[in-house]
Amino acid sequence: MNWNDSTRRAFLKQFGVAGAAALAAANAPNLAAQATQPALTPADQKQADTRAARMKWWHEAKFGMFIHWGLYSVIGQHEWAKENEGIPLSQYEILAKNFHPKPNAARDWARLAKRAGQKYMVMTSKHHEGFCNWDTKLTDYNAKQQGPGRDLVAEFVEAARAEGLSVGFYYSLMDWHHPDGAICKTDEAARRRFVDYTHGLIRELMTNYGKIDVLWYDVDWPLNADEWESERMNEMVFSLQPDIIVNNRNGLPGDFSTPEQHIQAAENGRAWETCMTLNDSWGFNRGDDAWKTPKTIVDNLATCARGGGNYLLNIGPTEDGSIPQRTLEILTEVGRWTEANGESIYGTERGDLSPTTNTNLTRRGNTLYIHQKFWPGHTPAAEWLDFFKPEVVVALAGLKPKALSARLLKSGQKVEFTQDEFSLRLTGLPLEAPDEPATVIAVECDAEPVVDQRSLISKWPRNKVGISV
Ligand code: GLC
Repeated sequence: MNWNDSTRRAFLKQFGVAGAAALAAANAPNLAAQATQPALTPADQKQADTRAARMKWWHEAKFGMFIHWGLYSVIGQHEWAKENEGIPLSQYEILAKNFHPKPNAARDWARLAKRAGQKYMVMTSKHHEGFCNWDTKLTDYNAKQQGPGRDLVAEFVEAARAEGLSVGFYYSLMDWHHPDGAICKTDEAARRRFVDYTHGLIRELMTNYGKIDVLWYDVDWPLNADEWESERMNEMVFSLQPDIIVNNRNGLPGDFSTPEQHIQAAENGRAWETCMTLNDSWGFNRGDDAWKTPKTIVDNLATCARGGGNYLLNIGPTEDGSIPQRTLEILTEVGRWTEANGESIYGTERGDLSPTTNTNLTRRGNTLYIHQKFWPGHTPAAEWLDFFKPEVVVALAGLKPKALSARLLKSGQKVEFTQDEFSLRLTGLPLEAPDEPATVIAVECDAEPVVDQRSLISKWPRNKVGISV
């Protein structure tokens, strides 16, 4: 069977995982809306009360590095290789003895993350394959007792901290290696053993590595939140790490939502983070050359920031922990941009801002950041066209408040402008884009900037002659 995205979803749905619940909710939106919200448990209430304080750093951070690294990196065929290629467990286990990463590979990841402008890192402590990247006492299928001979999670934590980055652990509840990992759905004794094992592993991760900033659960197949005892799981996590934030993939809402491979803002007031691959694979996939460009990454980062969300961008190190060359190049270029334009990303706030093909937008307070992706260059300078002048203009329709001043973010250079009820026109700009992959122009306004081209529809003179759009 070819495990592409849709078959994977089908697999998860067939066994009644979160996907199925989502589908049911989508099919019955009214029912979902009408259902009375269950009262918050004291533990939920406590999480809700402390949420804003726990998440403050994360909302400001905006940009994180996801790292998928495990036995699948030895194969180099995507982290689902076991299922995609039908590898028997007895064969797959042999990889554990043949996983020989170079020492402290994570230091290079952390340096790259820092250079790219990423503020936190989330590494796979255990992926679906079940191999534990740390020195666990609960299974010998772990990095210390197998090929690596050392605790890779400890190295990761140390590397991230050395660069001043926050630390997150990804943890897959689904486990293809544990003998009870599937039968737990129908056999209570197996469920008990597997849930105890799972809680025990998470307890180790929350106990042995000092302060951990993010716990990033993944795939809760085959159990539901009750069967995982997810409330108790989270309570344990918060009792050991009172400042941590947790995601929504253990069957509970947690602190933030996790749209995957697409950017979708959650409802206002709900934190969210888009996780995305840099090519098409999470784990190292030798032949996957579908790399996103730095332009796409920078634009995605701005789109997340515009919606008040975070961007968790993945790298898949090779079996020895090296960073693939293209990954290095792309993130280095992204870093050149974030270094000069970080003000338009970090600590920005969700805004009511509609982008256009050429222009993405972010804001903080009364400052609007215009991210010009495609530089206008020459405008058609025909003398008989009053509107166009022979100069380079970045124009944006639908800005509501009054602009007070404008500057190029990279150089601080002042930008002249005119504004009427239709358009803000930034004038006297250079022929070539002052920055790549996007030039950012900061515009101070006299109120919170709202950009809405559609609000102009009724104002255009064409309406007076009866032409509607
Ligand atoms: C999906 C994939 C998994 C990947 C994760 C990242 O759940 O199955 O391989 O780790 O997405 O969000």
